[in-house]
Order: sequence, then C-alpha cells, then structure tokens
Amino acid sequence: MAENCRCVVLVSGSGSNLQALLDRAAEGTLGAEVTAVVSNRPNAYALERAGAARVATQVVDHTAFLDRATFDAGLEDAVARFEPDLVVLAGFMRVLTPDFVARFGGRLINIHPSLLPAFRGLHTHRKALEEGCRIHGTTVHFVTEDLDAGPIIAQAALRVHETDTPDSLRERVQALEHRLLPQAVGWYAEGRLRTEAQRVSVTGHADPPGELFAPAPEPEW
Ligand code: GAR
Repeated sequence: MAENCRCVVLVSGSGSNLQALLDRAAEGTLGAEVTAVVSNRPNAYALERAGAARVATQVVDHTAFLDRATFDAGLEDAVARFEPDLVVLAGFMRVLTPDFVARFGGRLINIHPSLLPAFRGLHTHRKALEEGCRIHGTTVHFVTEDLDAGPIIAQAALRVHETDTPDSLRERVQALEHRLLPQAVGWYAEGRLRTEAQRVSVTGHADPPGELFAPAPEPEW
C-alpha cells in the first residue's frame, strides 16, 4: 500500500460516515488521508462537512446525464482525477456499472446498513424489524459487480430491542458504522487485508473470544 493512502469518499447525503473518517484523519488516527469527496447530489450535507475540513469536493450530478453508463463514465473520470488508493462508498446511493467497478476493483469498499448477506438493497432496518431479527448491524465490504455482495471485511452487530423502530435502529446502527468504517479503512491503508475467494482476513489480528446472544440469556444460565 502507498505510504500515504489517498482515499476518495463518494457520498449522496448527510455524510455522518464521512465525518467519522474526517474526525479520525484530523486526529491522525485514520492511517489514511481523505483526499476528496465526490457527491452525486449538489445539495448533499456531506459536501459541507468536507468543506469545513478543507477537503476537495466535486459534484457529478446524476440528473445531468442521459443514462447510467454516461454518468458512471463521468464519475470515473472525476474520481480518477484524485488518484485514489482507496475509494469509499459512504452512503453513496447509486448502483455502479461493471465498468466503474472494474476500474477501481480491489480498492473500492462500501458500508451497508445490515449484516450481509441479509437485507441487500434499501430499507434494511425496516426489513430487519419485519423479519423479527434479534440481531442487526452493519457491514463493510469490497464492492463487486453484484449489489451488496462483495467480500466482507468487517461487521458490527447489536441486539434489536422490542421498542425499536426503523429510525431508532438506524440511529444505533449508524453509531456502530462510525466506528467500523474508519477501522476498515485503517486496515486497508496498512495493507493488512487479504482476500481469498470470498473471505477477507486481517493480517496480524486475533479476535478475543466473545458471543452475542439476543435476547441476553438469564444470568443463572
Ligand atoms: C449509512 O447508514 C450507510 O450504511 C447507508 O447510508 C447511510 C448513509 O449515512 N448506505 C446504504 O444504504 C448503501 N446502500 P451518512 O450519509 O450519514 O453516512
């Protein structure tokens, strides 16, 4: 990996995950530099966050393009201009074409608000509640041509409460995302991720033992 990992972040909305990356970069604990932020929406709040952190921004407005292929070609040019070592989809709400994925494949990661492979696509928190899930969470994965299906780098999970709504779940899952995404970016930047077939390992990392029961078992069990 390049000594200074240049990271381009693609966004569409609020950018709270971008903020988590910017905060860690400002602290000097990210292990990577946020070089630029590219948005497909001109009014995304994420652009203001980038501006406040003095990070370069660019808008590639999908509504100005004829079709998905020409938009992705424009997006590819915009991203390539910043010479990224890593491209992070942080709340980027467009499906990318195989050409875009091929261009940045292996250095393109996404954060998705579910424990993949459960609940690909949209409305993941509502779906988790509708399916009666006891455990829900978020996944950082490499992006491949198939939607929300690339090799999983890291996941974080929590117990679903009886009182949870889609909004309360989103809020609690996002708090996990803000820890998970910077960690995954850091591992990538340190060159510690190895992918074999669909499985990713983190070199030099050993997990402590631990299980997550939901609901938690009674103390006497
Ligand atoms: C995040 O929760 C992310 O997991 C999700 O969008 C949110 C963006 O929030 N991504 C997807 O749903 C991708 N399919 P943010 O703009 O505040 O970071």
